[in-house]
Amino acid sequence: MATAVILLAAGQGRRMNSKMPKVLHPLGSAPLLWHAMATAASLAPQRIVVVTGHGADAVAATARSVEEGVRIAHQVERLGTGHAVAQALPELDDFVGDVVVLYGDTPLIRPNTLARMMDARRGGADIVVLGFEAGDPTPYGRLRMAENGSLDAIVEANDATPEEAGITLCNSGVLALSRDRLKDLLARVGNANAKGEFYLTDIVGLARDDGLTSAVIRCTETETLGVNSRADLARAEAAFQERVRADAMAGGATLIDPGSVHFSFDTKLERDVTVGPNVVFGPGVSVADGATIEAFCHLEGATIGPGARVGPFARMRPGSVVQDRARIGNFVETKNVVMGPGAKANHLTYLGDTHVGAKANIGAGTITCNYDGVFKHRTKIGEDAFIGSNTALVAPVCVGANAVVAAGSVITDEVAAGDLAIARSRQQVKPGLGRRLMDRLRALKARGAA
Ligand code: UD1
Ligand code: MG
Repeated sequence: MATAVILLAAGQGRRMNSKMPKVLHPLGSAPLLWHAMATAASLAPQRIVVVTGHGADAVAATARSVEEGVRIAHQVERLGTGHAVAQALPELDDFVGDVVVLYGDTPLIRPNTLARMMDARRGGADIVVLGFEAGDPTPYGRLRMAENGSLDAIVEANDATPEEAGITLCNSGVLALSRDRLKDLLARVGNANAKGEFYLTDIVGLARDDGLTSAVIRCTETETLGVNSRADLARAEAAFQERVRADAMAGGATLIDPGSVHFSFDTKLERDVTVGPNVVFGPGVSVADGATIEAFCHLEGATIGPGARVGPFARMRPGSVVQDRARIGNFVETKNVVMGPGAKANHLTYLGDTHVGAKANIGAGTITCNYDGVFKHRTKIGEDAFIGSNTALVAPVCVGANAVVAAGSVITDEVAAGDLAIARSRQQVKPGLGRRLMDRLRALKARGAA
């Protein structure tokens, strides 16, 4: 059956106390909205309609950057979830099939959970609602079940009788039904309730009155965790991290201290990757088979090749590519760099806008001077080249294959393949002067000079 998703994202998120719309706050380095849209995408929907309100332009722009063809419905006044869904319906005028309603601020719903809901729809339930057993049901709509095990009604917290308030099975907000039925039921939802809002949840009671059946599919409370405050955001982040760490280990990566490794939404670890404690994966990182990321590394926009070793204490910035068995050691920073197969930069180095050939060796303290204050310039180091310690490579500059640069050099001109470059002032030696100088200074001190 064809599926469409309506994603509610109009809320302000007042409790976030932020200039940024709530659904744009990041979880695993991607906006909450990205996560909700990824969940939606798991249904392979024909159409996604995002309902915007607070910060509409920014929310719409983010939605479009995730999925070009997304439809946007603007909710001018926030009159409740039923009203919000009604604003999206014109975008589904020509759509025939099922509609799934998701919230933009609820990022952890699993694709498998939505699949179970769709199974229940195919199994004959007219409406399928996603519910959960709440540790503290206070703020949630309660799922009032009928004797026959079907869902009788959803009772909002503010409208619940004391008896209903005792129900712990709660509404996640996610539901599925055909577009025709949604349109018909929604047209009959009023706002005569405690909050004076048009409740989407009222459609369940209306459906029952029509003789239709509603079913509940259950998920864990963690999956339905909605973000309303910074504390909620931190809880969601913790749950997300736990999930992706488990996925990484199931995928064959060793995490020596999983709880201290921070992932992004798109981090990819292949098999037999080892990650030490306290590693941060920013967005855009992939690590190939058998590579090792030692403790205390920070990576972002980096591609780590098979068998490569990085760290401890390395910082890899966007555009860093470390090819097979190459080595990045402690206190090395890279940006927009290719490290060819087997190349090494083992200690205390900055490489920016640089191509390092296969098996080249970059000595401790080497710095590429890639920025002149206005423009960035490139450095090219050939295969098997040897860059001595404490070299400054003033870009643009090339060092050829098999060339050697002496330690302490400031390289401003090309070094051709196989040549040796020494670019430092020559050493002078004054015989005996060291001893005589120190004797004089000590004598001065003995006479009381400061
Ligand atoms: C809603 C449900 C409740 C459920 C709870 C789960 C209703 C009436 N109640 O309550 O049963 O237990 O979620 O968290 O549906 N939104 C709009 N436009 C609006 C109103 C809301 O886009 O006019 C969006 C919000 O941004 C949010 C979502 O819809 O993402 C839910 O709205 P919220 O006000 O949080 O509903 P609750 O009162 O929490
Ligand atoms: Mg809410």
